[in-house]
Amino acid sequence: MGKILVTGGAGFIGSHTCVELLDAGYEIVILDNFSNSKPESLNRIKKITGKDFKFYEADLLDLDKVNAVFDENPDIEAVIHFAGLKAVGESVRMPVEYYHNNITGTLMLIKAMREHNAKKIVFSSSATVYGLDNEVPYVETMPTHTSTNPYGYTKVMIEQILNDVYVSDNDWSVALLRYFNPIGAHKSGLIGEDPNGIPNNLFPYIAQVAVGKLPALGVFGNDYDTPDGTGVRDYIHVVDLAKGHLCAVKYVMENKGVEAINLGTGKGSSVLDVLHAFEKACGKELPYVIKPRRAGDIAWSYAKPDKAKKLLNWEAQYGIDEMCADGWNFAKNNPNGL
Ligand code: NAD
Ligand code: UD1
Repeated sequence: MGKILVTGGAGFIGSHTCVELLDAGYEIVILDNFSNSKPESLNRIKKITGKDFKFYEADLLDLDKVNAVFDENPDIEAVIHFAGLKAVGESVRMPVEYYHNNITGTLMLIKAMREHNAKKIVFSSSATVYGLDNEVPYVETMPTHTSTNPYGYTKVMIEQILNDVYVSDNDWSVALLRYFNPIGAHKSGLIGEDPNGIPNNLFPYIAQVAVGKLPALGVFGNDYDTPDGTGVRDYIHVVDLAKGHLCAVKYVMENKGVEAINLGTGKGSSVLDVLHAFEKACGKELPYVIKPRRAGDIAWSYAKPDKAKKLLNWEAQYGIDEMCADGWNFAKNNPNGL
């Protein structure tokens, strides 16, 4: 079995996936530039698994360094590509930096992979590629050519690029994993989501209210056409998501072609559902205030997860209560992050 290169492996989803890979007996190599993560997460991966791995502090934009990683590890067989910038609001303010980092970074990686005949890739795409015009539940066959922001467009474009690469060379094997809303943390409480500054996303924001770092959750709109008026999303436990990557790696090892695959639970929860589940987990009431809608938000987003079950034999195991219990365990043990 060849090695797996994990780009962005020090980040939130990457670190959880590395734990699952190591636990399953894979050898891994991690590449990260720590632009949105900390070296401590690598120590935590080692602590949880009791295993070691090679790490390269490198930027994907630096083609020489990426090539050197492959030169030094000629047995890299597949790549799981998490590395990218992901803050939607920031991408609107800094489109050039986002397109450069995410798209040019991916192009450099593809060049190095092609050069070293390592043509199997699992890519972190997002439910954001379904845009504003499709109806839930989202199915992989739906059109994906719109987004509301540069971050979302980087995902649409990278999916297109990987499709085109396969058309040019049928030796490639590509899984485009469309994540819904990953939350929660590893059971150990040692790794989890650790955003810089004030969180943009719901779950880390609630976690910071629970640990007392922020006074109250702002609920972005309670007049949507949903059961309680707040936005509904398909939250997925990050460990379930990580396990989905193991199934996808196995799939790309055994099959050629390009497949877009939703990784979600197929169930929706509202903002208030998540807040109340977190209150149950932490045993206290969490204050919130209703705020205006956030630009670019939609009422509903959830997956039809059937393709993942059929193709990868994967389905999510955990519900919202476990996501909140594990997320709270990480937050209370690491109130200031890693
Ligand atoms: P994250 O920011 O925690 O992890 C990304 C990692 O990539 C970080 O460790 C960062 O330092 C690294 N990185 C960024 N640019 C790099 C570069 N040029 N060279 C080397 N390393 C670089 O994010 P995450 O939540 O773990 O997300 C992982 C991937 O999944 C991203 O591509 C993201 O867009 C995608 N995704 C995330 C979500 C989510 O809700 N978290 C949803 C859908 C898709
Ligand atoms: C967002 C991004 C999406 C990206 C994903 C992961 C937007 C429009 N979408 O998804 O492209 O892939 O993050 O990074 O930004 N909410 C509040 N208060 C908050 C934060 C969020 O009420 O402080 C609500 C939102 O209105 C939404 C739900 O909580 O209804 C989930 O929001 P969030 O966690 O930001 O995820 P998405 O918007 O689904």
